[in-house]
Amino acid sequence: MEHDRLMLRCLQLARNGSGSAAPNPMVGALLVQGDRILAEGWHRTPGGPHAERACLEALGGEAVPADAILYVNLEPCAHHGRTPPCADLLIERGVKRLVVAHRDPFAQVNGKGLGRLRDAGVEVIEGVLADEARWINRRFITSVTAGRPYVVLKWAQSRDGFIDRPRAEPGPHRISSPQSDVLVHRWRSEEQAILVGSRTAVHDDPRLDVRHVSGRSPLRVLLDRGGTAPIDSRLFDGAHPTLVFTGKIRSGIIAEQIIIDPAEDPIAIMLDAFNQRSIRSILVEGGAELHGHFLREGLWDEARVITGSMAFGSGTPAPVMATSPCRIESCGPDRIAYFTNSTQQKQPRGSWHW
Ligand SMILES: NC(=O)c1ccc[n+]([C@@H]2O[C@H](COP(=O)([O-])OP(=O)(O)OC[C@H]3O[C@@H](n4cnc5c(N)ncnc54)[C@H](OP(=O)(O)O)[C@@H]3O)[C@@H](O)[C@H]2O)c1
Repeated sequence: MEHDRLMLRCLQLARNGSGSAAPNPMVGALLVQGDRILAEGWHRTPGGPHAERACLEALGGEAVPADAILYVNLEPCAHHGRTPPCADLLIERGVKRLVVAHRDPFAQVNGKGLGRLRDAGVEVIEGVLADEARWINRRFITSVTAGRPYVVLKWAQSRDGFIDRPRAEPGPHRISSPQSDVLVHRWRSEEQAILVGSRTAVHDDPRLDVRHVSGRSPLRVLLDRGGTAPIDSRLFDGAHPTLVFTGKIRSGIIAEQIIIDPAEDPIAIMLDAFNQRSIRSILVEGGAELHGHFLREGLWDEARVITGSMAFGSGTPAPVMATSPCRIESCGPDRIAYFTNSTQQKQPRGSWHW
């Protein structure tokens, strides 16, 4: 129980790296002696110190007491990446007891970090809050084990199930409240890429950036094999990087372009391209057809559906989820339903929604 409580603190620290640690996992660490926390740290950004190093740096030059326990949610690394192996650092600094949530599925580490520590005489306890820790690193774990990014589908629908009114004039037709907009921008800041379909780009001209909260704007991605998005679309304004999957290279747009063969499945091609760039997660913001392809192919992990308070009567029908939501919450006047794909990463029981 004491281990659970301290691991929970470790997960809170890890979450400080949300939106900045990727493509690395979110990792926290704390050094505890008796009922005192001696030092804490977390992994902030790729290339920066890992959580264990940050924690031991926070301790300063002091020796690690022999009875101190280091808590870390992910197995310490055993390989030379951009920083030297954390397992070696722990041994050098004299850490004698370690509590970890779970092993690192990354092939160069998986079990090797803990093996090295045990060989050096460190007492290791594994499996403390493992489900919760896997949940906060579901993007990293899905990417490393499935070879594709974690896919979050998100849309807003009217009370009567439409994602858009019939179109007389261009421009977005508001469904969700300003409160939900802030939340959506937080969601954007938590993923590495954000994808929309071509008709969404034509009808809504979205910016797809992070404005209502502070945070990193993700890579903007457009699937537009027919080259229908206007040249003056905001997505091509150069304000943030944009990647377009196109049938043919277009001139006059500020975007990286990847050609897709029309005979090939665009979802498989896009996921593969993301994987090659170490993009661990994407937020798909519609429209309905694009969502429908992800849903039918089973290539999604979470869906977040915002239902606004007004009815449209007619328009573009929203995708229909085949399962019940695992959680429903209110956001201002809106209702948000969260779905998880049960064939993918499991959400821990209880009130976990990080
Ligand atoms: N309420 C909301 O949350 C929300 C969000 C976004 C959009 N919208 C509304 O939704 C409307 C647009 O939605 P929509 O359903 O008409 O279009 P859409 O999903 O924006 O665009 C259709 C997309 O499907 C892609 N596609 C075609 N075949 C595919 C395949 N086999 N596999 C994967 N993708 C494939 C198309 O790619 P190609 O172009 O390359 O063929 C295109 O990108 C707009 O009116 C917009 O306002 C609402």
